[in-house]
Formats: sequence, structure tokens, C-alpha cells
Amino acid sequence: MTECKIDYQAPQDLLKDRILLVTGAGDGIGRTAAIEYARRGATVILLGRTTAKLEKVYDEIEAAGGPQPAIFPLNFEGATLKDYHDMAEALDKEFGRLDGILHNAGQLGRITPFEQYNPELWDQVMQVNINGPIWMTQALLPLLTKSADASVIFTSSSVGRKGRAYWGAYSVSKFATEGFAQVLAEEIDHLGTLRINTLNPGATRTAMRKSAYPGEDPMSLRTAEDIMPTYLWLMGPDSKGRNGEAFDAQPPRS
Ligand SMILES: NC(=O)c1ccc[n+]([C@@H]2O[C@H](COP(=O)([O-])OP(=O)(O)OC[C@H]3O[C@@H](n4cnc5c(N)ncnc54)[C@H](OP(=O)(O)O)[C@@H]3O)[C@@H](O)[C@H]2O)c1
Repeated sequence: MTECKIDYQAPQDLLKDRILLVTGAGDGIGRTAAIEYARRGATVILLGRTTAKLEKVYDEIEAAGGPQPAIFPLNFEGATLKDYHDMAEALDKEFGRLDGILHNAGQLGRITPFEQYNPELWDQVMQVNINGPIWMTQALLPLLTKSADASVIFTSSSVGRKGRAYWGAYSVSKFATEGFAQVLAEEIDHLGTLRINTLNPGATRTAMRKSAYPGEDPMSLRTAEDIMPTYLWLMGPDSKGRNGEAFDAQPPRS
């Protein structure tokens, strides 16, 4: 098992004045992370494919008195390089830099024997889980390098660290995520102001988990709120200097 910071106690102003992008911010773990990051002082850019869900998160952050967030509707399935560059330009105009990205948006695809895996679905999962996020990261690198301390977190999975039968494109996309994070982390290491790491949330009570394990009792799982300490630690200044590593957000279940 890799390092886990579930007991980390984040100071209230941990992310004060930070500009953070959270993908898949409308639901599940991304939604909770966006709200927690705002609660600790960050201006959060809420990215996702369902605007109505992003608006709800926006309202929740505003109602709690957090810094005014921004909404950025984007669907990784159809997004192009131009979309990512337009996005970088818009964020540059509005904020002038980026202090972090939580790459969290993801799709499960299907859990099925590989011999029955649909190639279009395979490509879609790879597009949403890895190809879209990496080209978005490339477009945003100039903004990240304008920050004095930027953290990029790629969401992984236990099946991205050890393969599991029938998990198909999802598992392969998470292995690619781990590999890409290592490659980029080594390339930017000399900067000293940017870090790239992966984080495996572990089994968490969300819609995705429910579709992967429909028979499981959701009450036996940790909630997204429970796993936030590691999300806060890795995004904030207390993890400065950690680069190219793989973390877990919770200890393995017994
Ligand atoms: N839950 C777990 O037990 C678990 C375990 C290991 C890893 N993970 C990883 O943790 C991350 C979050 O998972 P979750 O459980 O919170 O899943 P979730 O509840 O299904 O949420 C996924 C989020 O990704 C967004 N999304 C999906 N497709 C998208 C697309 N094409 N473009 C933009 N956004 C898209 C969804 O938007 P909509 O709401 O609009 O659909 C949603 O906000 C994922 O990367 C997942 O692989 C989860």
C-alpha cells in the first residue's frame, strides 16, 4: 500500500487565494472535493459535462460563504484541442495562473470479459479518463508554471496499480494515468514549483461504485467526505516537494 493521509487535519485557510480546477465537479468525489477546497479558501473552477449539477455546487459554495467559484461546462467525450486552448486562454484572462488541478472526471465503461468489450466504448473510456485530461493538462501547463506552488492530482484506482479481470478500458486507462503522471512529474521536477501525483480514492460511496458493485451495501463504504483529508493534503502546501508519487486516500478495507 502507498502512503495515505486520512488523519491529516487541514487548517481552515489551507487553500486561501489558490485558484483550483476540479474536473467532474458536479457529482461524487469531485463535487465533495470542490466544496471542501472552497471551504478552505480556494477559488474553484467547476468543470463537468452537466451544467445543472455544476450550478448546484456553485450555489452550495456561495451559500456557505466561500470564494465565488466559476463554472466551466466541458464534455471530455467530444472536447477538442481547441477547446482546451480556448479554456487556457479564458482562465489566463480571468485568473492569470492556476495553482492546481484535481483530475477527477471518469467513466467506468463496462465490467465484462475483454472478448466481449465494445471497441467504441473502449475508446470512449480512454478519451474521458486519459486522453482528454492529458491534452487539457498540456494546454494548462503555462498557467500552472505561473504559480509559486501548483499541485496536479490525477485520480487513479486500485485497478490502475494491479490489473483485475473484466475491468477492461477502465483499468487500462488508470494504468496509463499512473504512467503519464510519472513521465510528466520527471519532466517538470527541476521547476520546484509544480508537482504531479496520483491519488487512489479507494472504495467510496458514489454512483460509479454502485454501478461497479450493485449488490454491495453502500453503508459499508466510506463517503467522499471521509476521504477528503488526503485530497486536501495533496492539494495544499503541506505536500510541497512530493512529486511523481502514488497516494491512497484511505487504508485498504479489511
Ligand atoms: N468511487 C469509487 O469507489 C472510486 C474508486 C476508485 C477510483 N475512483 C475514481 O474517482 C473519480 C471520481 O469517481 P466517482 O466515484 O465520484 O464517480 P461519479 O460519481 O460517477 O462521478 C464522476 C464525475 O465525472 C464526470 N464525468 C463523467 N464523464 C464525463 C465527461 N465525459 N466529461 C466530463 N465529466 C465527466 C461526471 O459528470 P456527470 O455527473 O455530469 O455525469 C461526474 O461528475 C473517477 O476518476 C473514478 O475513476 C472512484
